[in-house]
Amino acid sequence: MQSPKRYLITAALPYANGLKHIGHLAGAYLPADIYVRYLRSQKRDVVFVCGSDEHGTAIPIQAMKENTTPQAIIDKYHGIMKSNFEDLGISFDVYDRTSSPLHHETSQEFFTRLNDAGELETKETEQYFDEAANTFLADRYIKGTCPNCGFTGAYGDQCEKCGTTLSPDELINPVSTLSGQPPIKKKTTHWYLPLDRHEEFLRQWIIGEHSQDWRANVVGQCKSWIDGGLQARAVTRDLDWGIKVPLESARGKVLYVWFDAPIGYISATKQWGLNTGKDWRPYWEDKDTKLVHFIGKDNIVFHCIIFPIMLKLHGNILPDNVPSNEFLNLEGDKMSTSRNWKLDMQDYLDDFVKKENGGPQMVDALRYYLTQIAPETKDSEFTWKGFQDAVNNELVAIFGNFVNRAFVLMHKLTAGKVPPLHGDRTDDKDQAMIADIQLAKNKIETLLEGYKFREAQFEVIDLARKGNRYMQEKEPWIKAKKLGDGAETDEEQRSAQQEIDNTLHICLQLCANLAIFIHPFLPNTAKKMMYLMKVVDKMLDWDNAGKMKLLSVGYSLRAPELLFRKIEDMEIQEQIDKLKNNSVPAAGSLPETIAEVEKPATTPVKQEIVFDDFAKIDLRVGTIISAEKVEKADKLLKLSIDLGFETRTIVSGIALHFKPEEVIGRQVVVVVNLAPRKMRGIESNGMILMAEDNQGKLHFVQPENMVNAGAGVS
Ligand code: MF3
Ligand code: ZN
Repeated sequence: MQSPKRYLITAALPYANGLKHIGHLAGAYLPADIYVRYLRSQKRDVVFVCGSDEHGTAIPIQAMKENTTPQAIIDKYHGIMKSNFEDLGISFDVYDRTSSPLHHETSQEFFTRLNDAGELETKETEQYFDEAANTFLADRYIKGTCPNCGFTGAYGDQCEKCGTTLSPDELINPVSTLSGQPPIKKKTTHWYLPLDRHEEFLRQWIIGEHSQDWRANVVGQCKSWIDGGLQARAVTRDLDWGIKVPLESARGKVLYVWFDAPIGYISATKQWGLNTGKDWRPYWEDKDTKLVHFIGKDNIVFHCIIFPIMLKLHGNILPDNVPSNEFLNLEGDKMSTSRNWKLDMQDYLDDFVKKENGGPQMVDALRYYLTQIAPETKDSEFTWKGFQDAVNNELVAIFGNFVNRAFVLMHKLTAGKVPPLHGDRTDDKDQAMIADIQLAKNKIETLLEGYKFREAQFEVIDLARKGNRYMQEKEPWIKAKKLGDGAETDEEQRSAQQEIDNTLHICLQLCANLAIFIHPFLPNTAKKMMYLMKVVDKMLDWDNAGKMKLLSVGYSLRAPELLFRKIEDMEIQEQIDKLKNNSVPAAGSLPETIAEVEKPATTPVKQEIVFDDFAKIDLRVGTIISAEKVEKADKLLKLSIDLGFETRTIVSGIALHFKPEEVIGRQVVVVVNLAPRKMRGIESNGMILMAEDNQGKLHFVQPENMVNAGAGVS
């Protein structure tokens, strides 16, 4: 395999609009980091870039939610993400951000070059405009009824209920989320990248050149895009958050976030050049660079279709591969930020790493499990039990156990020193073990070069497993017993000692090899092993893998220390409880009113929450405009509630307490951002608050005076 002169490795720039969870980590950052660490150990010339994606409507929307400015949002989340990645051992050479002036300049130059070359088209269209707020509305700012499923809270770009991709024009009864008013249509001009002009190039490049070496899911998605007919994509937006379009005629317009974000890879490389005094250009311009984008599957089209066209037009190199992962589920369900069904990197760090019995080994524990279940070819699932099993049954019981036994026996049987290898006395088992170590190098290398991290890591553990078996079969402790008995002749004694030497010599060289092999996956573990073996970084060079002379004979090594600790049942139970208690229950398990779960007087105060937890709940005053009994459900009333910005259907379990005609016209407090759920075939979009007295009777919780529908409650 001829290796390229240099590598430029990217991991998708995460949006700086919230905490990132382990699905993100497993999808892009961890595999990229493993690959990069491997390349570095090969002494290849590699630069690993990433940074925060700080534009797009996601940012101002989050700012509204947190009641602050977009700038405050990106500063906050950029800081958290950067430190989370560091804490999890993701070894970027640069972690940049797209709000940097250098990136703004770089993106504007990109746009200008494409535009000047006639590679963009302009088109005038009509778009939704909010007259009250005096602004065009990004798709996300428009809500309405989904034409597909009838969900009333669908966004202009997507219905989160049924998952359909929408355009704002398709929404029924669109309403601006800024003013609550129906928007008007207004003319606007935008710049488009005509993808259709590049169909031939894409076919040739993806299907012609890469259908074998790219993952099947990636090629498949690209093919269906191309076959579906490529269209021009707008690369500008009417928005006031983003990179200004560098044209007089484009006042008030910014570059579309998906135009500027991938250019962020280039800006980050430039920044790396500035930081290190190195030349960034060849990494993007010289054909002998291998560019690899690590991403999650929702980013495929941008990295395989749109950005490559931009790169080609701009005169840059194209990616050599785009290893994209499928999704990671959690405990039987899709990870979801809105339902809070997720494990944030920050939470893992707080609960496992930044604790007394935590530390770097717990970083490696997570890295290990996430690689073991990496969704490389299909969706996979994180379960806490699976995590515990992986750590206890593999890291502790196989890998850690082997290293520990080798060290313990060395201190017992060979005076804490690396014993010699008596070449003339090796047997078949010794030879087989040596051969396995050498074979492992090739296997792991091939798998890593092919982006098969899961299998590669499996091979490392498998080698440790073989080490355990070898040690078990050789039983050096039994031979040592015989020695101690003193019953044997000199010759027999010598030969027993030589066998012990050989076994431990091989086991210790295997430890050194395991450190090299495990290093890209579990860097902290490799480091600890180096400490125990008293060797320097250089020993971890990939070139050393497969060798049997890594530790010199007579060298004394440190006393054993455990590499990993067990995960207790209690720890995972806590996590499962936390997940269940903090999430919004999925449809079906939700109580019908909050009062139904609150048994007053006897109900203990719930677990303490922080303000941010509370702030997630969006409470509004609504007016009940109609009510009817739900067939065959004597507890349920189907309510229509006017919230000012929309009318919602909410099914509530109050029918035993109130007749429909008693509740019409009443004001209620509504949880408006609760995930919808179906009850008796009716979709309920929210929940009303009721108080329950100690006789079990329900009472309305309502404002003292009538207020406008939609008024906030806090
Ligand atoms: N921010 C995007 C996401 O989280 C990814 C951007 S990748 C880049 O889905 F290429 F645009 F940088
Ligand atoms: Zn829908």
